[in-house]
Formats: sequence, structure tokens, C-alpha cells
Amino acid sequence: FSAFLTDSFGRQHSYLRISLTEKCNLRCQYCMPEEGVPLTPKADLLTTEEILTLARLFVKEGVDKIRLTGGEPLIRPDVVDIVAQLHRLEGLRTIGITTNGISLARLLPQLQKAGLSAINISLDTLVPAKFEFIVRRKGFHKVMEGIHKAIELGYSPVKVNCVVMRGLNEDELLDFVALTEGLPLDVRFIEYMPFDGNKWNFKKMVSYKEMLDTLRQQWPELEKLPEEESSTAKAFKVPGFRGQVSFITSMSEHFCGTCNRLRITADGNLKVCLFGNSEVSLRDHLRAGASEEELLQIIGASVGRKKRQHAELLLMLQDSPPAIPSISSQDPFR
Ligand code: GTP
Ligand code: 5AD
Ligand code: SF4
Repeated sequence: FSAFLTDSFGRQHSYLRISLTEKCNLRCQYCMPEEGVPLTPKADLLTTEEILTLARLFVKEGVDKIRLTGGEPLIRPDVVDIVAQLHRLEGLRTIGITTNGISLARLLPQLQKAGLSAINISLDTLVPAKFEFIVRRKGFHKVMEGIHKAIELGYSPVKVNCVVMRGLNEDELLDFVALTEGLPLDVRFIEYMPFDGNKWNFKKMVSYKEMLDTLRQQWPELEKLPEEESSTAKAFKVPGFRGQVSFITSMSEHFCGTCNRLRITADGNLKVCLFGNSEVSLRDHLRAGASEEELLQIIGASVGRKKRQHAELLLMLQDSPPAIPSISSQDPFR
């Protein structure tokens, strides 16, 4: 495995997340303010060709999984073309997308043909009116249609990301689990995380342990599945159900020790940690004509500076911290 993508703690980064756009057609309360996020001028965003150049380089060095994110990645007009070109990269085994599902049913047949292999869909509630409250837009039925289309086209499992917030949707945990009885879904309950402006508060976070207790009361036979390498999710299954449920315990049990992810933002910055801000502009170096070797040196230096873990999380979990540190970047969950 490439030394450039290995950090000083021996973590090998084989998973790259590329944000295709900061724009989104929803306004989830925990992610974006009503007015949206300030947008980067188009000229500053990575072009399709630049994305491909960078992807090729990372894949050559050992990246075998790329996830396209946003904002909402399906908003980018050339998303199908990007998937098709990524699909040609030898050594790339998985091309995933994390989407809000609004345009999924419409685009999935083309995306599948282009080589899309994995789909994660965000859905925080099964109640249409609540959906509109959380995402501040309409579209519940479109998202459900997207989920069913993904199943119909053979994606398995289709991952459903559900950010659990006390007082909002924690009463729906059992309904979400019930969905996995007949559908090959992996419903992933995500611990609510803080960042700039999302009004996070310790009390709104429902921990993995608490969620698991709730599930166990209904299904004592809930079975833990073996952990997959570098996975951020702890998986369980109700015996006999088609799908499974998982927990992403970003807050209560972080997974920094096995982190294998790197990120490229829509404007071409390399982020070595979701919580870190040490970004280097790969776009600027590309546009200045840097050679492959030079780019690798720059990437390697950045990966080399990656911290062992993000200390902020521990602080945030104290009941009344002096100040809640938060993630300050524009598109923190990408
Ligand atoms: P898979 O590739 O299917 O495992 O997806 P994923 O979970 O890596 O990605 P997804 O885009 O579906 O993100 C789901 C949730 O995972 C997000 O809400 C984040 O809370 C969390 N997450 C993703 N990457 C990281 C990371 O590097 N650090 C932390 N702390 N959380 C992450
Ligand atoms: N806490 C946890 N997960 C979040 N996401 C967005 N904001 C937050 C937050 N504050 C999730 C979205 C999407 C994934 C990429 O990140 O639901 O599924
Ligand atoms: Fe859009 Fe996803 Fe943010 Fe919701 S969480 S506003 S769907 S980017």
C-alpha cells in the first residue's frame, strides 16, 4: 500500500469521499440553514476532468472505494458521466453515493448502467409531515420511491441513514426497524453530531446504548453481526428479518483508530479528517501544473499530519462543556 496514503499511526487510507457540490435541494435542520450555504463560485469548483485526474491518482496509490457526496451529489448535471469515468479506473472496486434520494428514482437506471455499486440514502422519519419539518422542503414520497427503486434494481443492502434526534424522531426507531422485516435495507441510526449553527445540544443526542436498549425491549433476540473492517457502523439483525439495522456511534464510541477515509471537498481541498481543518488545495496545485509526483508529495505530507483522533468529541460529551466545540467547515459530513 502506498506510503503517501499511510499516516504516522499506520492507518492506510483506501476510501476516498469526493464532494461533487455544496448545493442541496433540501435544507435539513441539522445540516443547513434555511437560506442554504454560501456557494463557491463555479470556477473554483473542481471540473469533471480534475475530479478524474485526482481519482486516478488516488486509485493508483491504493484507494479502492470512492463515495460521491455533496451537498446533494445528484444535483451535479454530470454525475452520471463522472460515475461512468470512475468505473473505468482499474483497481476501484466500489463506487458509492450518499444522496437525499429526491432525484434517485429518476437517475438510478443511468447511474447503475454507468457502474454505481452502492447507495446510502438519508431519511430521518417515516412521517411525511415530519419529513417536511426536518428538511424544510417537500419530497417524502420521492425519497421512498428512490429507496424502492434501489431495491428493485438489485442494490443490497440499500443503506438508509437516519440521524436520531431526541424530541423529533427517536419515537420512530421501532418503525424503522420494522421496515427491515420485508426489505433488504440496512437502516443506520446515526448519533446526532454538532457543527456550526445546527443548534446541537447534548440533550438532543440519543446515544447508541439508549437506542439499543429501546430495540432490545421490542426484540430481545436482536443479534449482533460481525464487524466489518474499518466500518463506522455496528450492525445488528432481528433473526428472520431480511434487512439489518446499524448504529453509527460517531459521538459515544468514535472509530478514529480504524479510520481509512480521506475527503476532497467540492472546491478541491483535501481533508484528512471530518473534524480537522488542515486542508490543502489540490485544485490550486493542479491548476498550477503540479506533476503527479508533486501532488503525491503534497497529499502524503497532509496525510502524514493526520491526528490520532479528534479530541473535540470527548469534550462534547461532557454534560455542560464550557463551550461546545463544533466542526466549522462548510460541508462537514461529506
Ligand atoms: P459506507 O461507505 O457505506 O460505510 O458509508 P459511510 O457511513 O461512510 O458514509 P455516509 O455518507 O453514509 O455517512 C453516514 C454517517 O457516517 C454520517 O452522518 C457521519 O455521521 C458518519 N461518518 C462518515 N464518515 C465519517 C468520519 O470520517 N468520521 C466520523 N466521525 N463520522 C463519519
Ligand atoms: N449529525 C449526524 N449525521 C449528520 N448528517 C448530516 N448532518 C448530520 C449531523 N449533524 C448525515 C446525513 C447524511 C450523511 C452524509 O450525514 O443524514 O446521511
Ligand atoms: Fe441536503 Fe444532505 Fe444537508 Fe439534508 S443533510 S440539507 S439532504 S446535504
